[in-house]
Amino acid sequence: MSRILPDMTGCEPTESIFDGWPVFPEVMEHKIVPAVRQGEGRKKAGNRNEARMIEDHTVRYSQVARWLHWTIALLVIFNIVGGIFHDALGKAFPVMPLHKAAGITILFLTLARIAWRLSHPAPPLPSAMPAWEKLAANATHFAFYALLLIVPLTGWVMTSAGDRPLTWFWLFDIPKFAVTKGEAVVDISRGGHGVLGLLFGLLALLHIGAALRHHFVLKDGVLRRMTG
Ligand code: HEM
Repeated sequence: MSRILPDMTGCEPTESIFDGWPVFPEVMEHKIVPAVRQGEGRKKAGNRNEARMIEDHTVRYSQVARWLHWTIALLVIFNIVGGIFHDALGKAFPVMPLHKAAGITILFLTLARIAWRLSHPAPPLPSAMPAWEKLAANATHFAFYALLLIVPLTGWVMTSAGDRPLTWFWLFDIPKFAVTKGEAVVDISRGGHGVLGLLFGLLALLHIGAALRHHFVLKDGVLRRMTG
C-alpha cells in the first residue's frame, strides 16, 4: 500500500510504494530497496565495507545542511589560518577586519545550522560502523558545535574591550559588548580564544582526515552524504 512517510533526514519525502520503508528521492536515485533487502544477508557476508556501501550511498544531508556545512567550513579554515598568521602577514595583508567579520558570520550561521539540525535530524550513521567510531564521530560533531559558538563569542568579547572598529565587512558597525579593558572576562576571553582557536584547528585536521579515510579507504559513501 502506498503512503507518505515522515522526513527523518532533512530530505523531501516522497510517496512510497514499499509498505513500511521510508523512501526519499535520494533513496530512489540510488536504488536502496534491493540494497536494503540484500542487507539481510550482510552478517553472513561478513564484509564490513560492502555492507557500508550497500547502505550509505542512499541518504544525504539536505541541501540547506550541506550549504551551511561547506560555507561554515570555508570561513573557519580562513579564520584559523588568518588568526595564526595575522602577525606574520602584518600590514601586507591586514587580515583582522576580515577575521572578525567572518567570525561573527560563523556564529550566526551556526545558530541557523543548529536550528536546522534540530528540525531536520542528520541521516543515521552506517549501522556497520563500529560503536567506538560512532561515538567518536558524535563527540567530534558536538565539540565542533561548542567551538563554533564559544570561539567567535570569546573573540567578540575580546574585541569589545579594544578601540578598533568592529564592522561587518565594512558595511555596517557590529555592536560591542559592554566590557572594559583589564576585566577578568577580557583576559579569560583572550586566553580562551587563542587556545580554543588552535584546538579547533587540530580538530578540523582530525575531521578532514576521518572524512578522507571514509572516502578513499573504507569507500563507504559517508563523505558523499555531505557533498551531494
Ligand atoms: C570560528 C571563528 C573563529 C576562529 C576559528 C578563530 C580563530 C583564531 C585563531 C586560531 C587565532 C590565533 C590565536 C593564537 O595564535 O593565539 C585568533 C586570533 C584572534 N581572533 Fe579569532 N577566531 C574566530 C572568530 C573571531 C571573532 C568573531 C573575533 C572578533 C570579533 C576574533 C578576533 C580575534 C583577534 C582580535 C585575534 C588576535 C588575538 C591576539 O592577537 O591576541 N576572532 N582567532
